[in-house]
Amino acid sequence: MDWGLKNRLSRIINPEDNRVLMLAVDHGYFLGPVKGLEQPEKTLEPLIPHADALMLTRGLLRRCIPAESNVPIVLRVSGATSIQRDVLPDEGLTVSMEDAVRLNVSAITLSIFVGTDHERQTLMALSELVDFGEEYGIPVLAVTAVGRELGQKDARYLSLACRIAAEQGAHFVKTYYCDDFEKVTSSAMIPVVIAGGKKVETEMDVFKMAYQAIQEGAVGCDFGRNIFQNPKPVAMISAIRSIVHDNRTPDEAQEIYNELMS
Ligand code: R5P
Repeated sequence: MDWGLKNRLSRIINPEDNRVLMLAVDHGYFLGPVKGLEQPEKTLEPLIPHADALMLTRGLLRRCIPAESNVPIVLRVSGATSIQRDVLPDEGLTVSMEDAVRLNVSAITLSIFVGTDHERQTLMALSELVDFGEEYGIPVLAVTAVGRELGQKDARYLSLACRIAAEQGAHFVKTYYCDDFEKVTSSAMIPVVIAGGKKVETEMDVFKMAYQAIQEGAVGCDFGRNIFQNPKPVAMISAIRSIVHDNRTPDEAQEIYNELMS
């Protein structure tokens, strides 16, 4: 791995413990103003100090994140679809590579839709990004999208999608936690982070998912709604952080959450 690429990746995945807690706030690229991100700067300001990196779009970055901020940016560079239509996998690249460089991002990211009619176009877009990333030293995060079109998020499917991302040259991959998750991490060849998904019922459900994923080989979490839609988002991100970086158990994380929210 070239020096620049390694340097940028180490701003995201901490080389001291090989772990990362990313905050995903890129939802607006196809969902518009989701709950909790109607006014992103208000939501983000108290959370940024607790995140190792932010995953977002260039519009949100330019409008809501101070340029003086030192938080590493994982820039979403795919999209051009919306929840209004039934063709979410029909994504293309939406950001020029010159703009990604101009924004001084630490990584670039796109979704791949393995198993859909748009599999080829999203994998070709991944290859294009990897060519660019290798040329300029910017790591590429592939997101193995799920959704109506893709059915079950089982270990067979997710290990297939993660491994394809790695074989195409992605430097790390974001996927979903599932039963038998160790099968996904052990065959991925590259670091795996997990997405949070829709907000779940209890904080403990999130803590257990994060803890299990780490135990089964994930390097960390890239959570969005389960943090910023929580009534106490700072308590939530701090508790998840304790699992990712301090090896706390779900019960210990719950105690941290309870203490911070009171
Ligand atoms: C996934 O494709 C996108 O990056 C999502 O916007 C992100 O993963 C959402 O995070 P969460 O599911 O934790 O709200």
